[in-house]
Amino acid sequence: MITLNISNSMKDIIGDKGLSKVKIESLEKKLKKFFKEIKQRKWKELLFLDLPVQDITDVKKIASKIKKEAEYFLLLGIGGSALGPKAIFEALSPMHNFEKKPMVFIYDNVDPVIFNKIIKTIQMDKTFINVITKSGSTAETVASFMVLWEIMHKIIGNGTKEHFVITTDPEKGNLKKIAQKNKLTCLSIPPEIVGRYSVLSPVGILLTEIIGINSEEILKGALDIREKIMIEENIWKNPALLMSCILYIYATEYNKIINVIIPYSDRLKAFSEWFCQIWAESLGKQGKGFTPYPSVGVTDQHSQLQLWIDGPKDKIIIFVKIEEYEEDIKIPFVFEERQELNYLAGHTFSELIKAEEESTEVTLTKAGIPNLTIKIPKISAYYMGQLFMFFEIVTVLTGFLIGINPFNQPAVEECKKFIYSIMGKKEYKEKRKEIEYFRNRKKCWEI
Ligand code: PA5
Repeated sequence: MITLNISNSMKDIIGDKGLSKVKIESLEKKLKKFFKEIKQRKWKELLFLDLPVQDITDVKKIASKIKKEAEYFLLLGIGGSALGPKAIFEALSPMHNFEKKPMVFIYDNVDPVIFNKIIKTIQMDKTFINVITKSGSTAETVASFMVLWEIMHKIIGNGTKEHFVITTDPEKGNLKKIAQKNKLTCLSIPPEIVGRYSVLSPVGILLTEIIGINSEEILKGALDIREKIMIEENIWKNPALLMSCILYIYATEYNKIINVIIPYSDRLKAFSEWFCQIWAESLGKQGKGFTPYPSVGVTDQHSQLQLWIDGPKDKIIIFVKIEEYEEDIKIPFVFEERQELNYLAGHTFSELIKAEEESTEVTLTKAGIPNLTIKIPKISAYYMGQLFMFFEIVTVLTGFLIGINPFNQPAVEECKKFIYSIMGKKEYKEKRKEIEYFRNRKKCWEI
């Protein structure tokens, strides 16, 4: 099970800037009220809690066909429709494309240069494309889909439909209609599930199976941590309650509004990005929220650490530690004459990465910078499931604590409307006028 260590945010360890037991317990009543609402599924969007027990028979069938037939697998999506799959892919099948088939590309942008390169790399007749969009109308995903649909048609004609899997809302949206008309294979994202809470739905599960990982393991991990969190009422024994409580108190009373996440593995770099989306898009509302800061250890010790320790005191650092790296490399004794370097010889990479992690933690703690540690025994499907579910629950709880709706994203929706208006969608004429207004104002200050 993943664990949480909060020692380095407590007064007796980091001094005055730390929290006391009494302070944390002062929030207990409020926290328990929201905890109860989560347990009782008071919001329909909390259905993400039940994804670990979904039926994945169809997903497995589709994945098995793709695994057999595809040389390339391309996933199109953006935001919640891409970051979860990306986190799974990088954590569970690192350097995949050098070693395994099908080659996987996850594309979540509309940079013409990169998209062209992907198109030139893949062989269309050997490619399966998973288009993921819950709303069925996100411009970036739909545009890429339209381009690939045309190319595929030119190359393989009538067989085109065999090469697409559409993951979308089961009832509404443009993608659903296109899929129905063209008899495309469809997977459903339950209507209640919000994009950034959808990683454990077919959004993340299909890719998991395609890269040869048993998705039941991810779901089992998510289920086990959910059970642990939901059963435990005692704040001192419940990692989700304790974590949101600490982050909330630090932000609201100590102005520590930047949350740096630093997993000590390249394999969790994309997980950092996933966390940043769920944290930012769920909580940044009505002038409230926290700024997530994606990072990776040890790399960012040599680029960001100076700022965290010696810059503005507005951050909390969240370590994600991995107990066991599964593989290791011994540092050899090669330069006999260089005594200054020989201290490294005989040690392993995992010893070095752990020494780096501990040194970073001690430097931060000594400087009075609060930090928390999430620990997982190893990076596996089971523990990825735990990480996803844990951070999803912490996000919702924290959202309730700050008094916002953690499931909507009104500002993102407004931006989407401006995109539609610029690109000529008829219903958005009023938005277009606003665009013109701001374009004209901008001209005044161009030098
Ligand atoms: O969390 C969210 O709702 C968003 O980040 C969406 O996932 C993102 O905007 C993409 O939306 P869609 O899946 O509808 O294309």
